[in-house]
Amino acid sequence: MTPVVLITEELAPAAIDILAQEFEVRHVDGTDRGALFAALAEAEAVIVRSATQMDAAAIEAAPKLRVIARAGVGLDNVEVPAATARGIMVVNAPTSNIVSTAEQAAALLLSTARNTVAASASLKAGEWQRSKYTGVELAGKTVGVIGLGRVGVLFAQRMAAFGTRLIAHDPYVQPARAAQLGVRMVGLEELLREADFISIHVTKTPETVGLLGARELALVKPGVRIVNAARGGIIDEQALADALAEGRVGGVGIDVYAKEPCTSSPLFAFDNVVCTPHLGASTHEAQDKAGTAVARSVKLALQGEFVPDA
Ligand code: MLT
Repeated sequence: MTPVVLITEELAPAAIDILAQEFEVRHVDGTDRGALFAALAEAEAVIVRSATQMDAAAIEAAPKLRVIARAGVGLDNVEVPAATARGIMVVNAPTSNIVSTAEQAAALLLSTARNTVAASASLKAGEWQRSKYTGVELAGKTVGVIGLGRVGVLFAQRMAAFGTRLIAHDPYVQPARAAQLGVRMVGLEELLREADFISIHVTKTPETVGLLGARELALVKPGVRIVNAARGGIIDEQALADALAEGRVGGVGIDVYAKEPCTSSPLFAFDNVVCTPHLGASTHEAQDKAGTAVARSVKLALQGEFVPDA
């Protein structure tokens, strides 16, 4: 019998081509739990992105499953211990979309600095309002990077090109390494008090959920602009909306939400919030890299071969 590879979200055509040469490729909407569970009954491999929850119940619904592949960075929607307990291999593509995500964070930050989205909507509505949308320069400002991992470093390098002063908080990074990048490491409170712009680049773990809540947002420099293109839930969305309403936060660029898909949020009411539907990894380049990397890993795993890091 030809092994069934189940794809539960949009995947690059190049990746599907690799798989279709050897396996029976099936598609299902991973957010429809009933359809997902039914499709998993036959699957020997499943490929997900961020919307499909491969939790213990989904894994239990998949008696033939040998490999779970996440076409992207992180594994926060895969219950790895449940997979491991069944001997199911879990693979991802940890560097596939880091450039795209850093660029998305930079794009959101620039949009918050120059009111780009609100000004565009206003002009399309027939208004010509120049003074209302006066922005701020990045040059000479302090950018605070929370999480100086792969994406955080790429983001910091891009911000350096704008002539910003860079500070970062990351307990796992040595100050000497940061100094090579022109970044000064600080505690979280110091970063919150000093930064004119803050961008989040940490993974989602029990320690980072709610990392910026009401208490932390009370410490920020008035008018700070905050970007999150990492994971939803790291900033408390209601606390952020309250800080916007009070004017303490001057702008927000947000790509990720505590619960996704997210079509309603207290943040959407604000003109100075730029919001996108989890598009950090959604570029042709990143999707080709992520899709083909996991397709190759799935192929090797199902053929019983050694699977190198993607
Ligand atoms: C990732 O974690 O790499 C992305 O969030 C995946 C995605 O875009 O679905």
